[in-house]
Amino acid sequence: MCRASGQTRGVNQLTAEDISALDDPVGQSLRSHHAALALTVGRASAYVPEVATFSAVPSAPDRQDWSDLATLLGPGAFADLFSAPTSPPADWRPVFSMAGVQMIAAPDKFVDREEDADVIELGEADVPDMLRLTKQTRPGPFWGRSHELGRYVGVRVAGQLVAMAGERLHPPGWTEISAVCTAPQQRGRGLSRRLVHDVASTIVARGERPFLHVAVDNTTAIALYRQLGFEVRREVRFHGYHTPAR
Ligand SMILES: CC(C)(COP(=O)(O)OP(=O)(O)OC[C@H]1O[C@@H](n2cnc3c(N)ncnc32)[C@H](O)[C@@H]1OP(=O)(O)O)[C@@H](O)C(=O)NCCC(=O)NCCS
Repeated sequence: MCRASGQTRGVNQLTAEDISALDDPVGQSLRSHHAALALTVGRASAYVPEVATFSAVPSAPDRQDWSDLATLLGPGAFADLFSAPTSPPADWRPVFSMAGVQMIAAPDKFVDREEDADVIELGEADVPDMLRLTKQTRPGPFWGRSHELGRYVGVRVAGQLVAMAGERLHPPGWTEISAVCTAPQQRGRGLSRRLVHDVASTIVARGERPFLHVAVDNTTAIALYRQLGFEVRREVRFHGYHTPAR
């Protein structure tokens, strides 16, 4: 076991500035750590296709910002606004709306980084297996280039990828844990707990704090995250739209 260096402030010691990055995690990521993966028009931005479908406008968008996002995505295109606390103009057609929670954990929950020989780093060569596992288990959207968003790890049994977890959104000071999943026949053996702990402790070791999102009705995953020390910071609503046809 090695003790990771890094920030160890508790959840209750976070400043308003620290935590405000989580109010618009997509926009904050696209404007900072993920700028190289961003397409922008004016103040609107979106991830390049195949990395993620998430897009963002400023926190108080005007008509020009929505027009710029429509230009960026194209007519009749899917605009996944993730948990942005704003809604587009009336001519943007709603596609989905889903209740979720955003959870955060105090860094001191993850200062002890246990070396786990079963946990392997996943990369380009693992993409077909990652796509197969996420298609089977449906932890949330995962695309062919999503692994470029951060570090992904997994566990193989007899060569087969049976569990994985990784890093997705990356606003200043924070990294989101995502794509947490275990193949049905391997569940209940602690694989996700070990993988989420590995991802979170690596985030904390570089001086950042872990956060994540989960659907409100995913009580299994919420139980997993609570057991690891995550607490609900706020309720969110994930929402997506189609841009106007022309
Ligand atoms: C949620 C999921 C990732 C858990 O994976 P797992 O490898 O079975 O989880 P673990 O064995 O590491 O369990 C760790 C803890 O999670 C909780 N948990 C796991 N399965 C549970 C279940 N069926 N019911 C209640 N709690 C459960 C428990 O707290 C458990 O600790 P315990 O074994 O000491 O009771 C898995 O069920 C899955 O892939 N679900 C579909 C994809 C998904 O929803 N991902 C989360 C997206 S946010």
